[in-house]
Amino acid sequence: MLTASETGVRIYNLGPLEQVPLGEGRAFLVGSTPVAVFRPRNGKVYATQALCTHKGGPLADGLLGGETLVCPLHAYRFNLATGQPVGHECSALRTYAVVVGPDGCIRLALP
Ligand code: FES
Repeated sequence: MLTASETGVRIYNLGPLEQVPLGEGRAFLVGSTPVAVFRPRNGKVYATQALCTHKGGPLADGLLGGETLVCPLHAYRFNLATGQPVGHECSALRTYAVVVGPDGCIRLALP
């Protein structure tokens, strides 16, 4: 089994999940990568690039509905799990693997 360092992936501890209120997102700078972490009411946690692929809107301030994220600037929708656009032609969002560890902290994998 390969370790994270052998695959070129780095795991970052972003701290307690409670920093991200239920039903909201928060922006983090992970290394030099801006990331948005979301905690929708479906109980899951998702992470995407921080800025919208349309015109750079701050995605952490978007509205969440299940696995759908609505950008706060022009209301374009994206699937949080896949990053794919929903109902428009903008590029997909980059998504990142994220889990909540047994200590309740958010762990994010960056390539
Ligand atoms: S910047 Fe996100 S929809 Fe326009």
